[in-house]
Amino acid sequence: MATAIIFGSSNGDGNTRQLVNTISNNLSAKIFDLNDFNFSFYDYAHHNKNDDFLPLIHSILQANHLIFATPMYWYSMSAQMKVFFDRLSDLISIEKEIGRLLKGKKVSLIATGCDPIPPSCFSEPVRLTAQHLGMHYHSFLYCTCPQDFSVIEHRPQINQFLNTL
Ligand SMILES: Cc1cc2nc3c(=O)[nH]c(=O)nc-3n(C[C@H](O)[C@H](O)[C@H](O)COP(=O)(O)O)c2cc1C
Repeated sequence: MATAIIFGSSNGDGNTRQLVNTISNNLSAKIFDLNDFNFSFYDYAHHNKNDDFLPLIHSILQANHLIFATPMYWYSMSAQMKVFFDRLSDLISIEKEIGRLLKGKKVSLIATGCDPIPPSCFSEPVRLTAQHLGMHYHSFLYCTCPQDFSVIEHRPQINQFLNTL
């Protein structure tokens, strides 16, 4: 598996999922739907260390390129994705050796939203988190979807994104 798409949306079959399917068909990427995993909010006491987060990380670490896929909800990543990002803190506290394996991975962000252009505060947490963990933030593809996602409408942007990889 060269590419892992980490997908977190409240709609398992919505706009972001359609974008994920399109990208995945072009890259033969493996999709990890965060809703399929049972992991909880970051816990300072790490009582949740045996939930699905670490097994999920072990699977994702098989890939060299991590693509985070989220809708824009209130100018931010989805709540599912935010919990995943918060749990990355486990990898710089109780699981440092596993955390070090993230170093050098390529990171991209793909997203959908209603607005024509996302504010910079939307993508910055992903770029800065990648930087903090020693990963290389590469590309950001945003598809504006005032209604349903349309592959035809977004094809030029999608091709541009795929060509940069
Ligand atoms: C809770 C919620 C908050 C949203 N906030 C925004 C927003 O801040 N900016 C925006 O452009 N679209 C916003 N939208 C619209 C979604 O980003 C858009 O419909 C997206 O394509 C939905 O993807 P999904 O089908 O994967 O949920 C919001 C939608 C929901 C449900």
